Amino acid sequence: MGPVTAADELSTARRLSAAVLAVSDQLTVPEVLQTIVDTARELAAAEYAALGVPDDNGSFAQFLVSGVSAEQQDAIGPLPRQHGFLAVMLREPAIQRLDDIRADPRFDWWPSAHPVLEAFLGVPILSGSLTNGGEILGALYLANKPGGFTAHDEELVRVLAAHAAIALTHARLYARSRELTIAEERARIAHDLHDAVAQRLFGLRLTAQAADLLIDRDPAAARARLAEVTTLAREAAEELHAAVLELRPARLDEDGLPDVLRKQVQILDRASGAGGPRLHYSQDEPPVLPPSQQAVVLRVAQESLHNAVRHAGAREIHVRLTRLGSCGARLEISDDGAGFDVAATMRAGRSLGLRSMRDRACSVRGSATFTSAPGGGTVVYLEVPGA
Ligand SMILES: Nc1ncnc2c1ncn2[C@@H]1O[C@H](COP(=O)(O)OP(=O)(O)OP(=O)(O)O)[C@@H](O)[C@H]1O
Ligand SMILES: [Mg+2]
Repeated sequence: MGPVTAADELSTARRLSAAVLAVSDQLTVPEVLQTIVDTARELAAAEYAALGVPDDNGSFAQFLVSGVSAEQQDAIGPLPRQHGFLAVMLREPAIQRLDDIRADPRFDWWPSAHPVLEAFLGVPILSGSLTNGGEILGALYLANKPGGFTAHDEELVRVLAAHAAIALTHARLYARSRELTIAEERARIAHDLHDAVAQRLFGLRLTAQAADLLIDRDPAAARARLAEVTTLAREAAEELHAAVLELRPARLDEDGLPDVLRKQVQILDRASGAGGPRLHYSQDEPPVLPPSQQAVVLRVAQESLHNAVRHAGAREIHVRLTRLGSCGARLEISDDGAGFDVAATMRAGRSLGLRSMRDRACSVRGSATFTSAPGGGTVVYLEVPGA
């Protein structure tokens, strides 16, 4: 390879900058990670590259490759387990640069259709610094370069790994903030439940005591009080029932997606009260989806219902689940509210909810799209492929 020229450096800086911008652009997490792994392979002139994010079961939650065709991937087989150098990089937060990975004692094996690797560069993806309670979020793996990888390659890939860390940390923070929201929601329901039911039970006790005092003196008045007791008891039971429905976790495996969706829409409709929007659910022969896709449809429905109720100021919200092709499904959530500028909202970065819907859709090979305009209401479409 010739000396590095100013033109080379400029082009490197441009590509690096494009990958870094992808992190803050409106791309989903898998799209960002793919951009990073492609850029790493290109800039380090490696034949192959991969980016792995471990799961808790000794395998990978995400494993993105670059330089390997779809046919090759099929031949290699399922996602790798954490073994050999894949595992070394997840255990030791150190960069590994080797002339021949096969000569290293830590080298393990690879499936028969796996390409032969020789020169190797592994760079850990770290959250913060390890001494500061940070952790290994994943690793970038690069392989095969005539003459081996250089210190310069190492530097470039290190920058990309730092940005992969930012994308992954954002995704985690987002998931955590969702959990907090759920905890707050539970606290609110407990509070409402206490207020509503305890108050009615207190009223019930007073009214029963009054009936008891009146029963000999004024039987007609006592009877009127007893009628009140019946009403108060019924109201308390209804209140309790509504709150329990709201607290009960969605049972997709038992009830199936259409029933769970219908119930959630009913609960929200009841909870939205006199001044709030009316919510409607309809369906048209939806197919039975694999569990992972059912979960995605439910979460996207919850997220967009939440948005429609909170932001739209709508009068009507419709949720519709229909068949798509022979085994897929399509979910449509429409509101007649204020609408918003989707592109501007995404660009401004205030769109974690919208992004998470797209990420979830992508994770099951589906798609989520948003159609909205200020003053014109909003429609969220989700399509999933089915079994
Ligand atoms: N149905 C809707 N009608 C009107 N505006 C909407 C609607 N859905 C989203 N928006 C606008 O898009 C913005 C981004 O939505 P997004 O769900 O990403 O974030 P959020 O709801 O503000 O916060 P989060 O979902 O993270 O709690 C909202 O703040 C709101 O301004
Ligand atoms: Mg939202």
